[in-house]
Amino acid sequence: MIAAASFFLFALLIHQESAQLLDSNCVKALPEENERVPWLAFIMTPSKNCSGALINKQFVLTAARCVVGEKDSSVRLNSEVYPVQNTYLPTNDRFTMDIALLKLKEPVIYKRHIRPICILLSDLVINTGMTLKDTRWGLTGSPATKIITNFENAKCLSSFGKRLNEFQICAGYSNNDNCVEVGSPLCIEAYRPNVTIYTLTGIQSYGALGTCVYSNILRYIGWIVGVVLEVDVCVHS
Ligand SMILES: *[C@@H]1O[C@H](CO)[C@@H](O)[C@H](O)[C@H]1NC(C)=O
Ligand SMILES: *[C@@H]1O[C@H](CO)[C@@H](O)[C@H](O)[C@H]1NC(C)=O
Repeated sequence: MIAAASFFLFALLIHQESAQLLDSNCVKALPEENERVPWLAFIMTPSKNCSGALINKQFVLTAARCVVGEKDSSVRLNSEVYPVQNTYLPTNDRFTMDIALLKLKEPVIYKRHIRPICILLSDLVINTGMTLKDTRWGLTGSPATKIITNFENAKCLSSFGKRLNEFQICAGYSNNDNCVEVGSPLCIEAYRPNVTIYTLTGIQSYGALGTCVYSNILRYIGWIVGVVLEVDVCVHS
């Protein structure tokens, strides 16, 4: 399963050469503060609402805890609503691998306010103290882009009493402002020759006050590519 995904990732890298993006039509720059973020998705299930990110024409990433056990979910992108056809999880253990890919029934048509977030397929390093941007639908307020700092994992250990693993990122605010919005996409500015690309690095899993835990997207690139290219098929309803 992993071998197949790695092989396709490798093949994709060879074919794309310089681009190295999951979808080359992605939005490379972070939109201005007062503009709509085109990749933002609002995930609706009968019992929960979450944020998420459009990553290509037919797939949206969110946290597994938003969609596990839910019968019907749909995704709102800008003002359009798309029913979900299938939900893909890397494992049944939703609390250690809190990430889900939602396949939409129909592919979306890209337009000004509906475009995917960039996912760089090449190596990217996130260090403690780095500045990240959390874009959120605004489940309890209005859409916003928040400046988030990457913390030592020890901060999350002391906040939640649980040791994070390599599939997780600890990040938040230096004050106690609330950073919580499950499913919100976290991105980082990546510098590539002559171009700066905002690329997805995390999907929010949980948090409290100023400390939040994100699933580390960099650890799921092989899985994401596998599902999107329909190599590594593993459906959970
Ligand atoms: C989810 O959002 C919809 C639309 O804004 C709202 O009607 C519904 O009450 C929300 N559900 C929950 C569980 O917050
Ligand atoms: C980057 O820009 C410089 C100056 O415009 C140019 O000489 C160089 O070829 C560019 N490199 C790439 C990889 O496009």
